Amino acid sequence: MWASEPGSKPAPRSRRLLLQSGAALSFAPWLIRHALATDVPRFALGIASGQPRADGVVLWTRLTGAGLPERVTVQWEIARDEAFTDIAARGEEAAEANWAHSVHAEPAGLAPARWYWYRFTALGQQSTVGRTHTAPAPDAIVSSLNFVITSCQRYDVGHYAAWRHVAAEELDLVMFLGDYIYEYASRPLPVRPVEGGHVRTLAQYRARYATHKSDPALQAAHAAAPWLLVWDDHEVANDYANLQGQDLEPDFKTQRAAAYRAYWEHMPFPKSARPVDADMRIFGRLDWGRLARIHLIDDRQYRDVQACPKPGRGGSNTVALKACPELLDPKRTLLGAAQEQWLAEGWDLTRPWNLLAQQTLMARFSWTDPAAGAGTYWTDGWDGYPAARKRLLDGVAQRKLPGTVVFGGDVHANYVADLKADFDDPASKVIASEFCGTSITSLGLAQSRVDAARAFNPHVHYGRSDQRGYMRFALDSGQLKAQLRVVDNALDPSSGITTAARFVVDAARPGVLSG
Ligand SMILES: [Fe+2]
Repeated sequence: MWASEPGSKPAPRSRRLLLQSGAALSFAPWLIRHALATDVPRFALGIASGQPRADGVVLWTRLTGAGLPERVTVQWEIARDEAFTDIAARGEEAAEANWAHSVHAEPAGLAPARWYWYRFTALGQQSTVGRTHTAPAPDAIVSSLNFVITSCQRYDVGHYAAWRHVAAEELDLVMFLGDYIYEYASRPLPVRPVEGGHVRTLAQYRARYATHKSDPALQAAHAAAPWLLVWDDHEVANDYANLQGQDLEPDFKTQRAAAYRAYWEHMPFPKSARPVDADMRIFGRLDWGRLARIHLIDDRQYRDVQACPKPGRGGSNTVALKACPELLDPKRTLLGAAQEQWLAEGWDLTRPWNLLAQQTLMARFSWTDPAAGAGTYWTDGWDGYPAARKRLLDGVAQRKLPGTVVFGGDVHANYVADLKADFDDPASKVIASEFCGTSITSLGLAQSRVDAARAFNPHVHYGRSDQRGYMRFALDSGQLKAQLRVVDNALDPSSGITTAARFVVDAARPGVLSG
């Protein structure tokens, strides 16, 4: 339940406190003792905002601590100023145990292209304050868009210094492109442990999100700007495809349902996205004024299973093309027919930029020399679905969309590439530009392996698997400017950061240029 009150005055503090105590008085006495215990933090996982629109945004939190009643009323406020003297909207939501006491508030009636501040109140406690931003009106002339792409924040292998630096950037949007959690048990001698072993059940997924979200630097990044999110595989299980797990588990659908449920519970998605059994739609679009159309897509839920897996199992493999002709089957899909059609019909012919936010490396990356008839490909990424990639890129070429830029994650390396009609033909036209960003913490391949393969992939301008961090972008109607932001040491929570490389894309010409 929410109420939008544009232009309303803030409630007197005494009224707010009365509302809080009134809510508490409806509980049994033992619950009141727990609920009002000031030593039990109720907002220990922080707050977040996401899915900005011109007139609204999703505000998220999840109540924490022992002794929570089945149903808790949570008040929320969103203000035009940091001191909350000018309230734009306020309302309340029921946080229910059935949904892990998560809150997804959806204020409406907000003004486009403006900063807001928000906070939650429940059980006598108030959350920290978050800052968020609405999107510009779709027809507004917009001079710039500042954003980062981030991915892959495995908790037990590093600290989140990168998030501390993201929180300090001046950003309109944070895009997170998958692997928010990892389902694995802790590594031996972890940088910091995760509890509970390998994750498969709803309770385990919830606990794993809570572990990741306990980090103050991640919380600060959520509180600094609205996020757009897509998932990849580790929010469920390594290398899963549609309803097939890597280990060919007999009831993988139940596991996927638990994982999707926990994902929705912990992310700033609207109520309309709440999963039904094992299905949750995350693909969608956002227009940033007249400047850019952002497409967010899902390459996990609807894909065909990977071609030529290792014997007796599912998941990825690295195979020679000549040993796996199935790779070239034109029927194979990474997005599923419906999403593929949705994307093809939604390219924007009027704005200078189409930004495609998705999970993994789109550029072909052969591990051996394809010219010698010996191309070797990893089957979990777009290289495992080359006909689907060609359909997508042909669609961009046919519509003549020079400002198409693909963003990705997944592979724990910074790759900057040109996307071509035919990657095997040096004369083939460049159709789009790609920035596949490295991980916040997750470990990459040995740099020597990437270096050894660079000669077979001349359309890849940059490849560094030994860097952790994020990519920062400044977009205007003429250019996209990219900075590859790399932490000095991902094992150090207070690590510094540097810009390892800069690139530029011109809106009028596809392809990446040195910055
Ligand atoms: Fe990852």
